[in-house]
Amino acid sequence: MKGGNVQGLKGKQVLISMLALICVLFIILGLRRAHVSNVLFASSNNWQHFHVLQQLAVTNADVEAGHLHKRTECDYFKGKWVLDNGRRPLYSGNSCRRFLSAMWACRLTTRPDFQFEKYKWQPDDCTLPPFDSHSFLTKMRNKTIAFVGDSLGRQQFQSLMCLITGGTESIVADDVGREFGFDLRPPFSVRPGGWAYLFQLTNTRVVFSWSSWLGDVQVDNESDPFSSSALQLDQPASFLRDYVHKLDVLVLNTGHHWNRGKLLGNRIEMHANGSKELSKKLQVLRNAYNYTVQNVVKFMNNQIDHNPGLRVFLTTLSPRHFRNGDWDSGGSCDNIKPFGDPTNSKFLKDPVAEAAISNTKVQLLNITYLSQFRGEAHISKYSITGRNGTEDCLHWCLPGIPDVWNEILHAKLIEDRI
Ligand SMILES: *[C@@H]1O[C@H](CO)[C@@H](O)[C@H](O)[C@H]1NC(C)=O
Ligand SMILES: *[C@@H]1O[C@H](CO)[C@@H](O)[C@H](O)[C@H]1NC(C)=O
Ligand SMILES: *[C@@H]1O[C@H](CO)[C@@H](O)[C@H](O)[C@H]1NC(C)=O
Ligand SMILES: *[C@@H]1O[C@H](CO)[C@@H](O)[C@H](O)[C@H]1NC(C)=O
Ligand SMILES: *[C@@H]1O[C@H](CO)[C@@H](O)[C@H](O)[C@H]1NC(C)=O
Ligand SMILES: *[C@@H]1O[C@H](CO)[C@@H](O)[C@H](O)[C@H]1NC(C)=O
Repeated sequence: MKGGNVQGLKGKQVLISMLALICVLFIILGLRRAHVSNVLFASSNNWQHFHVLQQLAVTNADVEAGHLHKRTECDYFKGKWVLDNGRRPLYSGNSCRRFLSAMWACRLTTRPDFQFEKYKWQPDDCTLPPFDSHSFLTKMRNKTIAFVGDSLGRQQFQSLMCLITGGTESIVADDVGREFGFDLRPPFSVRPGGWAYLFQLTNTRVVFSWSSWLGDVQVDNESDPFSSSALQLDQPASFLRDYVHKLDVLVLNTGHHWNRGKLLGNRIEMHANGSKELSKKLQVLRNAYNYTVQNVVKFMNNQIDHNPGLRVFLTTLSPRHFRNGDWDSGGSCDNIKPFGDPTNSKFLKDPVAEAAISNTKVQLLNITYLSQFRGEAHISKYSITGRNGTEDCLHWCLPGIPDVWNEILHAKLIEDRI
């Protein structure tokens, strides 16, 4: 019996080894074909071999690391601009009038040069799939994408509307602003709190909600046109709280409104903990900014825990290119050549956004670096009236740079399995 046992054990060992060999072969084949998940190994119920197999798999994955990396998580944000005379611009600034603000449609201004419309962004390690309206809408069937932020977010929203429609009226978009309360204009406001459109083709909604600071802004006296407002640094914008359950994709941005001039100009007082008595730390504007972004990202990260289908992106700071002065002191950008050396710039990274998303499920739309090269693509001194006034070296001509932000967003959405 003892001998038989030993014999049996040996037999088992041979069998196990053979099984293991077959498994290994399968796994090696599998690795060549597809991205391997650990689930595959867990299905092997021989735990001794599990360890060996895992090690083997790691070695194999290492061999193909470069390849796998490219397919699963390409860094779209590192690359260079190249001339693309074929396809660009992706829509016409003359014809996408329904969605473009005239002041941003540089084709409608006195601007004489349009070479800036002709470049595409080429990531170093992969290609950016061209924006495809059909694949975007199909991916977004029965879904809602919202941009919440300042005028740069609004530019990205307008760009997306033009990209989807191709700048023509051939794809029907219905105004559904009232679904998000945009028909109720804020008191004494010249413009609505946002815009929302429905593409009936796929039941897709595209939304923009103004929220320059991303925190909740409460007007102190709604019947007073000169009333002050409280910016609650620790409360997300009311749109986020009220409509988050309707959203599938959210793109947040803030940054350029965090200066004393903008706060004073809008009669905004910062609050935290329901009071305007701020800690020493929060009295420093940069800390208040950082604190608010941290809070909003935390809030959205909790929402993702409840609704794992929700995708949230935080767009990093869009660079300004004022030279020889600022926006209010004669700064200009009408002589900037494309692809100037950006290494002296303070706008290569966005530490506030980078810190906020770490350890969360919120992703960065890390557009700071790529946009930094394109100082010539701002509105600059040109206008629709023909007067060459104060230069705008903050907003971008459309079509233009925000189209590329959306191409990257499109790539990230269509490569997604959900
Ligand atoms: C954003 O992109 C820049 C340029 O490629 C890079 O230096 C930076 O590390 C990126 N940030 C993150 C958080 O990936
Ligand atoms: C979209 O919604 C319609 C109507 O509710 C439904 O019939 C369809 O299956 C949905 N499609 C997807 C892809 O969810
Ligand atoms: C709010 O503003 C209106 C108009 O200026 C003024 O008549 C009213 O007294 C104000 N209410 C309060 C509570 O300050
Ligand atoms: C809010 O109040 C709590 C408790 O009093 C305190 O611990 C916290 O630091 C306060 N937060 C801010 C931002 O002032
Ligand atoms: C923002 O706040 C977080 C949390 O307090 C901190 O870790 C981070 O260093 C801050 N970032 C900046 C740029 O101030
Ligand atoms: C505005 O600038 C353009 C381009 O430099 C120039 O041709 C035009 O004469 C200027 N217009 C005025 C009103 O100064």
